[in-house]
Amino acid sequence: MLTIEGETFRIAPQPCQQKLGPSAARKNQEKGPCPPNREFFRSHIHGPTAKPDRIIQGLGGLRKKKSKGPDGPRPDQFGFPTTESRELIATMNILFIGDIFGNPGRQAVRKLLPELRRKREIDLVIANCENSAGGKGVTEKIAEDLFAAGCDLLTGGNHIFAQRDSMDFIDGEQRLVRPVNFPPGAPGRGFAVHHSNAGPTVGVINACGRTFMPQHYDDPFRAIDACVKKIREQTPLVFVDFHAETTSEKMAMGWYLDGRVTAVMGTHTHVQTADERLLHHGTAYITDVGMTGPYDSVIGDDKEIILDAILTQRPRRFEVAPPNEVFLCGVVVTASMETGLAEKIERLRIPCS
Ligand SMILES: [Fe+2]
Ligand SMILES: [Fe+2]
Repeated sequence: MLTIEGETFRIAPQPCQQKLGPSAARKNQEKGPCPPNREFFRSHIHGPTAKPDRIIQGLGGLRKKKSKGPDGPRPDQFGFPTTESRELIATMNILFIGDIFGNPGRQAVRKLLPELRRKREIDLVIANCENSAGGKGVTEKIAEDLFAAGCDLLTGGNHIFAQRDSMDFIDGEQRLVRPVNFPPGAPGRGFAVHHSNAGPTVGVINACGRTFMPQHYDDPFRAIDACVKKIREQTPLVFVDFHAETTSEKMAMGWYLDGRVTAVMGTHTHVQTADERLLHHGTAYITDVGMTGPYDSVIGDDKEIILDAILTQRPRRFEVAPPNEVFLCGVVVTASMETGLAEKIERLRIPCS
């Protein structure tokens, strides 16, 4: 704790300090330096801690809502946070929206997001758009609509290239990421860094899991490693959309990246899980954020068609379900702008009536 002119401010612990209590830290000191393999493991898991100066340069601006009034700490003459004011602008709220499914999902975003941004004081919105065009893929127009509705960054998944005419658009759109572990030569990019004058700099990575997935993707773990390194040169705030089928692979990714990224958000299975948590080194995690779309369905598609296809084994063309029982599913992560680590994760499931 730090006291300035009678007011007490909390000092955010560094990632390693968060894990080690006083007695563990003492024991560690007594043990002396780690053996090489253990040291490698530590630096690999925690990653380098970005220097404060570099982090501050990445901030887009001060958050007025954290101001303590006219007598409170002020930024310096160049507009950068001072030691005191840094505590006041320490956190930001990032909303991650789960797989937006077809027109019902897009309508939910259009209808609910503007108020959600205002009420929850959201600084940045990341949304998964892999099912936004008729249940599969995304088009340029739909992406523009989602940006206009308040999304800042879009992520993809195994269906991201389903709309054939979207290749050029995906290749050129800097605010959209497709899985980074697609083969070399695939259009688009696997990670992006969002710069804004109005808010902080945030990096986002998209990757597909390999277990029970229809295609043979490259190793997502090593692919993400390389992106985290590049993004952390610009900002400590790193979001990972891990688009995978199994709980175990997603959970493994959460632990693998714990302490190195702000959040690991599971997508693809379209059913929100109730396991949101902060992992031991400060990464926010959830196995599945949930679908934004119609729940009177089979994960977004018309349930009658799906049932017919299963019961008769006849090929059927799947269609987006009617707009019944539509929910916007998402997660709000509150993260430290200095360390990039999460302080809070909250699940949202909002009906769109
Ligand atoms: Fe999906
Ligand atoms: Fe998917």
